[in-house]
Amino acid sequence: MNDTSNIPVLTIDGPSGVGKGTAAVRIARLRNWHYLDSGALYRALAVAARQQHVTVGDGAAIAEVASQLSIACELNEMGDGCTIFLNSEDVTAQVRTESVAAEASVIAASREARAALLLQQRAQCQWPGLVADGRDMGRMVFPQALLKIFLVADARIRAKRRYKQLKAKGFDGSLPDLVFALQQRDTRDTDRAASPLLPAGDAVVIDTSEMSIEAVVSDINRRLGNRLSN
Ligand code: DC
Repeated sequence: MNDTSNIPVLTIDGPSGVGKGTAAVRIARLRNWHYLDSGALYRALAVAARQQHVTVGDGAAIAEVASQLSIACELNEMGDGCTIFLNSEDVTAQVRTESVAAEASVIAASREARAALLLQQRAQCQWPGLVADGRDMGRMVFPQALLKIFLVADARIRAKRRYKQLKAKGFDGSLPDLVFALQQRDTRDTDRAASPLLPAGDAVVIDTSEMSIEAVVSDINRRLGNRLSN
């Protein structure tokens, strides 16, 4: 087995809409590191379950679907996110819908589904380094990470950010609906028994409510630089 323990890993965890995806992509590009959008794996699994008519609440059946999947996440040319491939099919647009997000959150509550995705996530740890974003990157998937960040922000501010992003893509839902859906997802992610959304004991917690994305990126990148030179 390849020893990956010396490969530097930066984990960025936190709830949806906190800015972790954008920050993670920017830092991966700045450093020329690999990028893992672990939420996209859960979302791609939800798309696969739909295609195969498997109920998202059936953990064992979902784990079976996961074990047969090849999911890849590649930084896109615009540099603002990644393209998601499910068995070579580009499912980027599908995984970003709110209905897939809700199904992914149900899948994410299953221990069996989480275990099935663990190796796929660890396999992304490659030289010269990895930036991994999600909910349990620092606590469960990469406990050896060089730097663990946990981002938090007020729920209304997160919903507004998400609303802006979705609006730009033609979404016509309302802000109150989005706040409600986000709070429901937060509760499900935080209260679940399997890998609940919590900072690792050695994580640096940053509140991004009043910060621009540039400030978040520069803060994390500076901390990473310090760790790398120590
Ligand atoms: O970050 P996101 O919205 O793309 O995540 C989709 C769902 O997957 C969300 O409900 C949280 C869950 N998830 C998780 O449980 N663990 C991760 N490492 C990443 C995402």
